[in-house]
Amino acid sequence: MQAIVLVGGEGTRLRPLTYGTPKPMVPIMNVPFLARTMERLYEAGIRDVILPAGYMPQAIVDYFGDGSRLDMNITYVIEETPLGTAGALKNVEQHITGRFFVLNGDVLTSLDLRAMLRYHDEKGGVGALHLIRVDDPSSFGCVVHDGGGRVSAFVEKPPKGEEPTNEINAGTYLLEREILNFIPAGRNVSIERETFPKVIAAGKDLYAYTTADYWIDLGRPENYLAAHRDVLSGAMPLTVEPGISGNGGEALKGHPGVVPPVHADEDVVVDASAKVGPNVVLGRGCSIGANAVVRESVLWERVSVGSGATIEEAILASGATIGPKAQIGRGSVIGHDVSVDPGQVLEPGSRLGPPVRA
Ligand code: GTP
Repeated sequence: MQAIVLVGGEGTRLRPLTYGTPKPMVPIMNVPFLARTMERLYEAGIRDVILPAGYMPQAIVDYFGDGSRLDMNITYVIEETPLGTAGALKNVEQHITGRFFVLNGDVLTSLDLRAMLRYHDEKGGVGALHLIRVDDPSSFGCVVHDGGGRVSAFVEKPPKGEEPTNEINAGTYLLEREILNFIPAGRNVSIERETFPKVIAAGKDLYAYTTADYWIDLGRPENYLAAHRDVLSGAMPLTVEPGISGNGGEALKGHPGVVPPVHADEDVVVDASAKVGPNVVLGRGCSIGANAVVRESVLWERVSVGSGATIEEAILASGATIGPKAQIGRGSVIGHDVSVDPGQVLEPGSRLGPPVRA
């Protein structure tokens, strides 16, 4: 059994984080997200993974290499220009030997891949699509199916009030090799908008696999923060201890200003008068100065927060430096190695990136 993890997107909605780190390598609880995905695949018995990449692929190759460190075999196929979610599959056709999983590279979910495989075995057809139910389907791709699970229609981002269903495409597919016959080669093709509708129009069967699993798309800053909150609270099952956790967590236990849940990596220094938490993740080597306040935020590696600075509901990429008494408004995203001046006040929702390379 093979898996293809789509990792070629530019991740524009996560900018400026994705100027320095491709979206699949963005850390979740201080570990690159793709490493979590690889673990899930391994647990499901999958050893053979194909990564169609294109945007900053070297960061991915440098981390995983040929996969042998994980007892896996990784094949990279680099796209010169983005081929889209189906074009990327067609482009790796020569490496696909049979049925295969396809995973969007930015979905955090508790979906059981083995159970999905059993479902596909029962149902047959060209493939099974993982669906979840959401309260507001208007910004997603809705998937309509009959009582037996056979998919009859795809409706992309329906206007509010006109949604045909609250079941949406959750970005994990189990497909037979036959699907490749429905994808033209050499151009950008979307699996959601073009390929799946074409398959059902041809009278072939696709089946809906609807589950009540935890599911979130990490591709937007607010979702990225929500995912961390959900892992810290236990709503999304990742093996994280409750309270104060992580390799650097022990050093923070007993600190009067640390309000759990807080997760910290090694070499984190928090001044005795600083306040950290709840719902804060600190990467390796972060330092939090005197009287600084950090709440509901994710700080990557080596972020330095000056004395008296305040940070709320923000994401700070590696190497960011926040000057003393600076204020980082809610929803702000700070890019790699960016410095915020002492006393500077960033409006809520600010995005401060490094200079864009031409
Ligand atoms: P945004 O620019 O913020 O929309 O992010 P994105 O470019 O990653 O797009 P999106 O979130 O829709 O992509 C879903 C998944 O497909 C992600 O895992 C992407 O990495 C991947 N993906 C999107 N487009 C391509 C592509 O052209 N080629 C490959 N190989 N992967 C892609």
